[in-house]
Amino acid sequence: YPPNLIKNFSIIAHVDHGKSTLADRLLELTGTIRKGHGQPQYLDKLQVERERGITVKAQTVTMFYNYSKDRRKYLLNLIDTPGHVDFSYEVSRSLAACQGVLLLVDASQGVQAQTVANFYLAFEADLAIIPVINKIDQPTADPDRVKEQLKAIFDINPEEVILTSAKTGQGLEQVLPTVIDRIPSPKGDPGRPLRMLLLDSYYDEYKGVVCHVAVVDGTLKKGVKIASAATGQSYEVNDVGILHPELTPTSHLFTGQVGYVIAGMRSTKEARIGDTLHLSRTQVEPLPGFKPAKHMVFAGVYPADGSDFDALNHAIERLTCNDASVSVSKESSGALGMGFRCGFLGLLHMDVFHQRLEQEYGAQVISTTPTVPYVFEYVDGSKVTVQNPAALSSSPGKRIVKCWEPTVLATIITPSEYVGSLMTLCSERRGEQIEHSFIDGIPTIPFCLTFYRQRVMLKYKLPLREVVIDFYNELKSITSGYASFDYEESEMQISDLVKLDLLLNGEPVDALASIVHRAKAERVGRELCEKLKKILDRQLFEIAIQAAIGSKVVARESLSALRKNVLAKCYGGDVSRKRKLLEKQKEGKRRMKRVGSVDIPQEAFHSLLRSS
Ligand code: GTP
Repeated sequence: YPPNLIKNFSIIAHVDHGKSTLADRLLELTGTIRKGHGQPQYLDKLQVERERGITVKAQTVTMFYNYSKDRRKYLLNLIDTPGHVDFSYEVSRSLAACQGVLLLVDASQGVQAQTVANFYLAFEADLAIIPVINKIDQPTADPDRVKEQLKAIFDINPEEVILTSAKTGQGLEQVLPTVIDRIPSPKGDPGRPLRMLLLDSYYDEYKGVVCHVAVVDGTLKKGVKIASAATGQSYEVNDVGILHPELTPTSHLFTGQVGYVIAGMRSTKEARIGDTLHLSRTQVEPLPGFKPAKHMVFAGVYPADGSDFDALNHAIERLTCNDASVSVSKESSGALGMGFRCGFLGLLHMDVFHQRLEQEYGAQVISTTPTVPYVFEYVDGSKVTVQNPAALSSSPGKRIVKCWEPTVLATIITPSEYVGSLMTLCSERRGEQIEHSFIDGIPTIPFCLTFYRQRVMLKYKLPLREVVIDFYNELKSITSGYASFDYEESEMQISDLVKLDLLLNGEPVDALASIVHRAKAERVGRELCEKLKKILDRQLFEIAIQAAIGSKVVARESLSALRKNVLAKCYGGDVSRKRKLLEKQKEGKRRMKRVGSVDIPQEAFHSLLRSS
């Protein structure tokens, strides 16, 4: 295939604006999948994607399309991208292989926060942007208004906008011809030595590591030896082909094509995403690559039953083979035993990881309250990044003199009536307003102004920690689900942070330690103590539950003693029945975690850590 007959593009959109459905229609239209066959949302392969209706991992697929205008057959690579804020790393990765995008917007919801974020990712990558307003079949669709928003925010000419319904098929015939007319072909040079960008990789039990690549220059042939620019390792290419939509061997991949390579790599750790692959023993300039994934949220992941450590270890190893964006290191906790500290791109990413551990690998896990990477400077001038609050030293020789916390730049788009409550929410969360603007065009009849439901774009600088803990749910509940939210990483800011310990009968429980802003420490401590009191089973003696900063107790609850005599109702002398009851009690005790002199049932950790 000559590069001028190749087009590489992606669909970018806010969650649920219909990206996967549109992709399905395009696959049907080009005969890549049969209509009405197979499952809907073909590209969403993972079980969690189907259940949650979101795309987590980007998938690629090749289609062939006969263009009636020039009677030529084009090769189109559609690279699906996830819509959720946590996965913008995957989005920018997919965009590196594209020359253009379809910017999809729901005709009734209009431009949302991720539309804005994704638009700028494509705009900064200098890609051709084709605006598409989808779901025009809906009774509440208002495509004219969405056109005005596109004009006001992105300066998009309303005449360039395509109107579609991925559901009824209306307008779909315009999409691929516009892709061919407006998106440039890849610019690589077939005459130069091979260079390919490694876009993604996954582990297949039978085939080994499968890499998705974009061939930038030259030609890749089955049987050649390739090398990684990052590691210098070389590999023999056992299989190459396209994703049409399943792996389809082609023996060659030409300049501009996107496809797969299987080259005997043993683990996905060898397949570094963003790496340049070239022919071994030839010198090439490495491609720009991508920024490495940045971990924004950390949590401890522990087996629900301590003895399952090996099983969990195995499951995590397997899963990280397919999700290289999670970082994993071993840690141990006095309360929870041996486990792992994992770094995630965001909260949803963390949830999805847990769900996959449970669903795909049958692992039962407890995870600690998520935290963000804080930086502390000690009196001796040394600095540490703390991913686990329990690890923060508070010994006298290590007095903390300065701390920094990560912040984000958040974009919120909301109907104007919720602006007041959202501003209150953001200021409670220590946010600083950066922008407040109206995004709908000005209505032409002034009288309508009062009836016109204006949309507002707010930009805030917020501490990441405040965003990580339940911000999204609160934003959704304040605005009845109407506001949308996205964030990008911003700088570290100096902050007054303290370590809040939770003590049971004077013993700190490491799994429940947290780092909080000083002004909020007392409130958080009180809430934690109250929650723990509700959850903990009463013990045979009184328990003091305390929250403390260093040696200063900021909150306290106490739980009175209870004598639980399981034999109380057992009159008379049936020994075997007594024994049975005592055995049962023993079994119950086995499932307790002993912290100092206090037994904490597994379930208590579960409900406490889940609800905080
Ligand atoms: P993510 O993968 O999470 O980013 O979502 P998505 O953008 O891929 O959205 P998806 O294709 O899953 O569609 C979301 C919902 O909108 C589904 O219930 C679709 O059936 C519905 N939908 C998609 N296109 C249309 C359309 O043109 N009209 C109507 N009425 N519904 C549509």
